[in-house]
Amino acid sequence: MSEVLANGARKGVRRATTLRVRDFIVLVSCFTAVLILLLVTGSIGLIEAIVALIAAGAVAAAYYVGSATVLPASAVSDGVPASIVPSSSTASIPLKALPLPAFEIDLDERIVAFNAEAEDILRLDNRVRPRASTVIRSPALLSAIDKAIHEKIDAPLSVEVDAGPNETWRAHISRPSDIDRVLIVLEDLTPLRRAARARSDFIANASHELRTPLTALSGFIETMRGPAKDDKESWGRFLDIMAVESERMSRLISDLLSLSRIESSEQVAPRDQEDVQEIMSSGTAALEGFADERGIRLDVSGTDAPLPVIGNRDELIQVVENLISNAIKYCRKDGTVRVTYGFASDMSEARARAGQAWDDSERMTLLQSINRPGPGEPAVWVRVEDEGPGIEREHLPRLGERFYRTDQSRGGKITGTGLGLAIVKHIMAHHRGGMAVETAMGKGSAFGVWLPAMRRETGGV
Ligand SMILES: Nc1ncnc2c1ncn2[C@@H]1O[C@H](COP(=O)(O)OP(=O)(O)O)[C@@H](O)[C@H]1O
Ligand SMILES: [Mg+2]
Repeated sequence: MSEVLANGARKGVRRATTLRVRDFIVLVSCFTAVLILLLVTGSIGLIEAIVALIAAGAVAAAYYVGSATVLPASAVSDGVPASIVPSSSTASIPLKALPLPAFEIDLDERIVAFNAEAEDILRLDNRVRPRASTVIRSPALLSAIDKAIHEKIDAPLSVEVDAGPNETWRAHISRPSDIDRVLIVLEDLTPLRRAARARSDFIANASHELRTPLTALSGFIETMRGPAKDDKESWGRFLDIMAVESERMSRLISDLLSLSRIESSEQVAPRDQEDVQEIMSSGTAALEGFADERGIRLDVSGTDAPLPVIGNRDELIQVVENLISNAIKYCRKDGTVRVTYGFASDMSEARARAGQAWDDSERMTLLQSINRPGPGEPAVWVRVEDEGPGIEREHLPRLGERFYRTDQSRGGKITGTGLGLAIVKHIMAHHRGGMAVETAMGKGSAFGVWLPAMRRETGGV
């Protein structure tokens, strides 16, 4: 765009020079004609005529030289008013340098200069100078522009512009004194708004989840102090329920703390060398008791060789524990939870091993791993299968959202916080890994995760 503006300015200078030469010739010619007339009629003598001609020539020459500094090139360029020819010293360079979408409007309300960011957003075309009202829909912004054009504004105006259901911009409108243009700079508020909404939703959800067990606890305390004060026999039952509720509260708090810890470490990439083989052994051993309690067989098979990754041990253990405990919780009674893991020569093979093993299943990638371009990056994968009821297709995209639980598990007896998969997803993102789910109604569900591995001498599983 600056190329176009620079060419325009050069053309303007050439044309102004031509006009000045023309004026010079016309002036001298007119004066000469008058002198010849006076000379022929005998009103003046030859000497006077020559002196007058020299004087006229000097005046015309002075005009020619003087006009070069007085006349701005843009004032006469191609018949376009001076205010809409952007010169490199006013409009184009400052706008180009701005990292935000920005454009200028003249006093005729035409968009006369804009940068590439504004070009994309307003879908501008640099061959036309549209009226602001034809490309801007927001009444608030149009009226602020109108105000800046017709009134003197001392400080920049700022208006919010709704550009869609979930898109908000702030426009900063300024008109520097002594400049006949209005500058509009746009700032995208959408990510800020989205983050603020997510934060407040999160707080609302967390408070709601905490209030439920708290209400139950305080209800029982009231009952035991009041109506059931002397009914010591029912106290045992009340205390059992109170223990379950307080356990639920402490699980919720510990999940919330995990989530916040992971979020706060998100900017720092994991640095330690860890062994997924060892992590799998510790993670599964910790859940054997839980599986026994529920009559579930835990079948673990993987390589005995080390599976080195750069990772955070505590976080990876949480991934394994969350997936296996879900599988145990949702598995049918006397069923089997199968845990498999291994090494893959690249991320896409790992993804297939972790998330695509059954025919006639619904599959969904819940977190896409970022593949490095170039030669394949080795990876480690883990798959946890259960023999549960399966998960209906409509729920799949929302698994991994904080507090999301399927209707089945919300209404059922299985307790949970709805934070486990969100924690897994965050941790896998922190490790540049991926996460997928595969499910078949009546058969079961399988959750798979994979992450980049360090190269090792011996390949294969
Ligand atoms: N293995 C599974 N089988 C069936 N449903 C599952 C399984 N794992 C997770 N889900 C569904 O996903 C939801 C979210 O899981 P999660 O975040 O771990 O929360 P929680 O286990 O605390 O309910 C669960 O409530 C359940 O509805
Ligand atoms: Mg869970």
